Amino acid sequence: MNVVAHPAAPPRPGLFKRLGASLVVPAVFDFWASRLHSTWSWDRPLARIVGRRVESCDSTTLLLQPNRHWTGFRPGQHMNIGAEIDGTRIVRSYSPSDAPRADGRIAITVKAIPGGRLSRHLCRDAKIGDVLTLGQAFGGMTLPDPPEGRWLFLAGGSGITPLMAMIRAQAAAGMPVPIALMYWAGTRDALCFVDELRALAARHADFHLDLIVTRDDASSDVRHGRIDTVQLSAFVPDLHQRRVFACGPNDFVATARALTEERAAAFRAEAFTPAPWIADDDADAGEVTLTLALSGHTLDVPRGVSLLSALEAAGLQPASGCRMGICNTCACGKRAGTTRHLQTGGVEHEPVSALRLCVNSARSDLTLEL
Ligand SMILES: Cc1cc2nc3c(=O)[nH]c(=O)nc-3n(C[C@H](O)[C@H](O)[C@H](O)COP(=O)(O)OP(=O)(O)OC[C@H]3O[C@@H](n4cnc5c(N)ncnc54)[C@H](O)[C@@H]3O)c2cc1C
Ligand code: FES
Repeated sequence: MNVVAHPAAPPRPGLFKRLGASLVVPAVFDFWASRLHSTWSWDRPLARIVGRRVESCDSTTLLLQPNRHWTGFRPGQHMNIGAEIDGTRIVRSYSPSDAPRADGRIAITVKAIPGGRLSRHLCRDAKIGDVLTLGQAFGGMTLPDPPEGRWLFLAGGSGITPLMAMIRAQAAAGMPVPIALMYWAGTRDALCFVDELRALAARHADFHLDLIVTRDDASSDVRHGRIDTVQLSAFVPDLHQRRVFACGPNDFVATARALTEERAAAFRAEAFTPAPWIADDDADAGEVTLTLALSGHTLDVPRGVSLLSALEAAGLQPASGCRMGICNTCACGKRAGTTRHLQTGGVEHEPVSALRLCVNSARSDLTLEL
């Protein structure tokens, strides 16, 4: 990948860690170690930005050098990335856009979302040398190992990133399985990786590419249109034999599912934005009292909004990541009270050990283990 890079991986303070395991307070170690090297930490995965490249009119690829606590990823997985913005740590999920690299570095490609806090920071303000917090990679949208099957990848906007990592990994292995990629963006200049994808399609008979824009007119090499059955059937007449991976905003993934799930050999999807909340007008009105048992806070929070948003609006910073119920970073115990799942509408009266704050709202007074 042709990204401007800065060398120097952090050394491995393994011996020191073994000797000091019973004596060291990790936060104190991190405070002093970070003064010697920006990504030294007792146990926290951190990454330094070592390269950046403008990838399209609104997307930027950042090359990250993780410290030794990062345990790697499989193409198609994602991880939480955090940055300090105006004194607040903002964490979101990102998918590596490149295959695992021999030098251990990770490439992420971030689309700047209008009004978005972390994406705009990473695309515009983040500099080489800045340190980001890193979660370990997870997620099951990966190809079988060894690869098998015929695949159709459907990418909407920034949903290209995990698919690109899988395509690059397969290309490096000589494209052992047939892959067809349909990739939509609003405009021609918002499409990422175009030259590389075209070169791969020219080089590998088993890699087929269809670039589509929804707002620009069609041009000689890019079609116009939204995802529909006619386009799908024309591009992949063997859809019934293909396994589909779809990735992008929730409405794109929902349409892809509706059009292909019943007709393809298998369907798997990852939405980058949450499904719309299920509203419950009567039960979602008014406020309840939220008690945070471990920190001793008591506050009033509105019903009908996620507990994560309610706590953040009150100036607190509970741990979070994907903000849509998939990474479990925000999970905490609920000792008492009733909650409602905002995506399923399900109501939970019993104590639970891992309540996900980002997809649950308060329905009655609550006590949480926070
Ligand atoms: C599993 C997973 C993997 C992801 N991988 C990537 C990735 O590789 N590259 C990438 O750019 N983003 C990725 N995202 C989206 C990313 O986590 C953030 O949501 C996004 O960068 C916006 O964050 P923000 O802080 O700028 O916006 P916020 O301040 O959190 O939100 C601003 C608004 O933008 C909306 N929004 C968020 N993401 C999108 C989107 N992709 N398209 C349209 N609207 C959106 C939000 O719903 C919200 O209304 C991924 C999300 C998930 C769940
Ligand atoms: S932040 Fe990922 S599950 Fe809540």
